[in-house]
Amino acid sequence: MIKQHVSRRGFVGGAAAALGTVALNPQAALARGIPLRPGGPRFWAEDDAYDALAKISFNENPYGPSEKALEAMTYAFKYSMRYGYPDAGVTQAVADFHGVHRNQLLIGAGSGEILEVVGLTYLGQGKKVIGVEPSYGQVYSHASGIDADSVLLPLEADHSQNIQRMVDATNRNYRDVGFVYLCNPNNPTGRTVSAAEIQYLLENIPEDVPVLIDEAYHHFVRDPAYEESIKHVIDGRKVIVARTFSKIYGMAAIRIGFAIAPPEMIQEMATYSTGSVNVLAKWGAVASMEDTAAYDFVRNTTLRLRDQTVADLAGLGYECIPPETNFFMLDCRTPVAPIRQAFRERGVAVGRDFPPLLNHLRVSIGTEDEMSRFMTAFEDITKTRAMSGSRG
Ligand SMILES: Cc1ncc(COP(=O)(O)O)c(C=O)c1O
Repeated sequence: MIKQHVSRRGFVGGAAAALGTVALNPQAALARGIPLRPGGPRFWAEDDAYDALAKISFNENPYGPSEKALEAMTYAFKYSMRYGYPDAGVTQAVADFHGVHRNQLLIGAGSGEILEVVGLTYLGQGKKVIGVEPSYGQVYSHASGIDADSVLLPLEADHSQNIQRMVDATNRNYRDVGFVYLCNPNNPTGRTVSAAEIQYLLENIPEDVPVLIDEAYHHFVRDPAYEESIKHVIDGRKVIVARTFSKIYGMAAIRIGFAIAPPEMIQEMATYSTGSVNVLAKWGAVASMEDTAAYDFVRNTTLRLRDQTVADLAGLGYECIPPETNFFMLDCRTPVAPIRQAFRERGVAVGRDFPPLLNHLRVSIGTEDEMSRFMTAFEDITKTRAMSGSRG
């Protein structure tokens, strides 16, 4: 039911000798039965290197869109030359699926666009965003890109977000606060903020301060103290919930996400939205929500591999921050920059640095094969120079 990616390695290996000829003479390549790809054959070598990597660095869903989404997107190609076209009723469908009115919904080209739209809407005239560090940095880098400030609070020793400190910072800066940013569960730590803590936050900051709750990874949470925050929007609070089709639905490169917020906030934000969601994304998103079997497969497989990998690492004496996401943070007890390089040399791409957690390596949950390549590489690396200072 889920599309399995087919490796091109065998094919490319056989074709590699012909590449020089292909670059000069496409027709000759076709005559030999070598299919040309958009962008030109000169990209083949790089593409092949990318395909061969275990890609566990960007918290992607390695299985891609569900079969139903692929079918819907293939169908929607017939509208790809249009400006006005049937859009699969995407706004109504997403609103219905989440139990809100369509005027409480804004669709964007990924939740990344939504986060920037929130910044553009609420960070004008010297306003600040309040949030923790490390968290999803795009919010803060966008803020500085539009000359707004961020008030960045440290995480606790257990890597949780200190909600009392967030309340205090918001109240202290009240006049200047554009919005509060809460990534739940947080990227890169994988930790949740409980429903009770969110309630506490909302009850203890002024009602007119918008709170942006980024739930990109909520599908992977098991923590019973966690709750989705759409109910606060329905209750009329100035809460914006950001969601994405990039993670559980495997559509990161297709680009679609959305905000759920009170109608007047949606109207304010809509002014800044680009309206650049493409036809395939719309059709694919609607079909994805209907494909519950694909959803179950991705969630169950990801959680199983997450549990197994974290347990295997514990067996080797390495702790992870307990994850509630499709990634985890591994405490390597030594700076991870050289370790990342060592992984890369073994064909495994792992996460970047997340200061100040420079001893932690962010690892996304890939396929079974990718996780076993990760473990093999890790065991190898722990025996070599890269981590020699870290033991004992
Ligand atoms: C916490 C968080 N929010 C938002 C995004 C943006 O996702 P997208 O723009 O693909 O919807 C990401 C991507 O990794 C993320 O980790």
